[in-house]
Amino acid sequence: FVLHSSLLFSFFCILQYVFLLFVQGKQVTWCLMFCVSTAVIGSLQFGYNTGVINAPDEKVQNFIRNVTQERSGEPMDKSTLTTVWSVTVSIFNVGGMIGSLTVGTLVDKLGRRKCMLLSNILALIGGGLMGLSSMCTSYELIIVGRLVIGAFCGLCTGLTPMYVGEIAPTALRGAFGTLHQLGVVIGILIAQILGLELLLGSQYLWPLLLALTVVPAVLQCVMLIFCPESPRYLLITLNQEEEARQVLTRLRGHSDVEDDIHEMKEEALKMSMEKKVSIPELFRNSAYRQPIIIAIILQLSQQLSGINAVIYYSTKIFRYAGITEAVYATIGVGAVNTLFTVISLFLVERAGRRTLHMVGLAGMTVCALLMTISLELLQGTSAISVLAILAVFGFVASFEMGPGPIPWFIVAELFAQGPRPAAIAVAGCCNWTASFLVGLLFPKLLDLCQAYVFIIFLVLLIIFFMFTYFRVPETKGRTFEDIASGFSNAAGSNAANYTSPEGAITMPVSPSSEKFQMTE
Ligand code: GLC
Repeated sequence: FVLHSSLLFSFFCILQYVFLLFVQGKQVTWCLMFCVSTAVIGSLQFGYNTGVINAPDEKVQNFIRNVTQERSGEPMDKSTLTTVWSVTVSIFNVGGMIGSLTVGTLVDKLGRRKCMLLSNILALIGGGLMGLSSMCTSYELIIVGRLVIGAFCGLCTGLTPMYVGEIAPTALRGAFGTLHQLGVVIGILIAQILGLELLLGSQYLWPLLLALTVVPAVLQCVMLIFCPESPRYLLITLNQEEEARQVLTRLRGHSDVEDDIHEMKEEALKMSMEKKVSIPELFRNSAYRQPIIIAIILQLSQQLSGINAVIYYSTKIFRYAGITEAVYATIGVGAVNTLFTVISLFLVERAGRRTLHMVGLAGMTVCALLMTISLELLQGTSAISVLAILAVFGFVASFEMGPGPIPWFIVAELFAQGPRPAAIAVAGCCNWTASFLVGLLFPKLLDLCQAYVFIIFLVLLIIFFMFTYFRVPETKGRTFEDIASGFSNAAGSNAANYTSPEGAITMPVSPSSEKFQMTE
């Protein structure tokens, strides 16, 4: 166990080191990398807790059955057990919805850094409760623990992209943003490997597997002591210019930080002229309406693409395709998932967010079709296993090219400092809700539609592709201020029923989105 954890942790460090070498000369310092690595522990936690419950499912269900037998003398019937188990799995997402919705208020009150620090209390409580469940012969502790850990992960999915986006240099915001997803996929992979029966997925060790989340929580708390507060929060929200300048000097490795300061001051000035942006305000104000719709649809495109149907049920899919060592094929899914996130890390500042998102959605559409063909039409032939494995790997690889990483960090890019926390809260909550629905409905849909279930995702993927093509602007290399003013110009011209030439130039990056701007 120690060997595996340290191997994976070293792998993560090496990846970051390679990444650092790659971007050297582009304003990357060790201080910046340290802060990003610290924040990304939150992503690792989200991934770990997403993946951890799948491997030991049978053991935990046995435990639930035994506890009931011990208490009432009667074993739990099958349908009650299924219900209790569904609650245990999906209550994580309910916690996530709560956590992601509260993040907006908390970050403005406490600051990004303190918020990350305090959120770890939830990880300690949640991990502790799940770890004690077996000792206390109470499966209720697992359910409450999953709820608490879900709330913690909901906070993480808002906090990490926000902090990373705010400390990263403009030219590298996409690549740094992708590190959040890299943390998530490595977390899932660690959970898949540690969940093997011969490691921690055994009858006696599963409580330890669930409780292990407390280790990164402690590590992050210690590392956060050495991390500065986000300079954007210091200057724009707290008006502490000197402190912001000092932090930027540390992060950039030189004292010539006037460009950053200037950009933030402009944003602060604009913000001082607007009133505070609440969640309802995001939908009422025409300047925010378009970016919030884009943010929400991008989150939905991530979850309703069906990725978690594959992440959660790949073992079942592989078994259905006649693969005997299905568990190892599932670990292959985790490995492909990680590999393609790394590839995306290097591509995102070259190809741009919009292009990668569309490439990913298109690839997933093709693979969803291949999955259906392999599972249904090739039943009983020897080609089925090969095609099913290729289709599942291709589906996951395409996801990580765009729909995996991009929605998480693009929300922070689409909004200026004022509306950003509220927007991240709304987008995060939509993501968690969609993920909750997929987790809840997929098993029933699978029973109902069998292999044709992926046709549903295929149709949704095509819709999301069209939306991205027509509505999503490119944000690569643009300052927050520039992106936000692109939307305001467009909204302003809407209100006046007149499209200013600046509005059309600033915002659109493709003929398609230009058309949208001109005609909306
Ligand atoms: C994204 C999704 C998450 C999914 C993961 C798979 O982070 O938000 O739900 O499990 O990607 O890599």
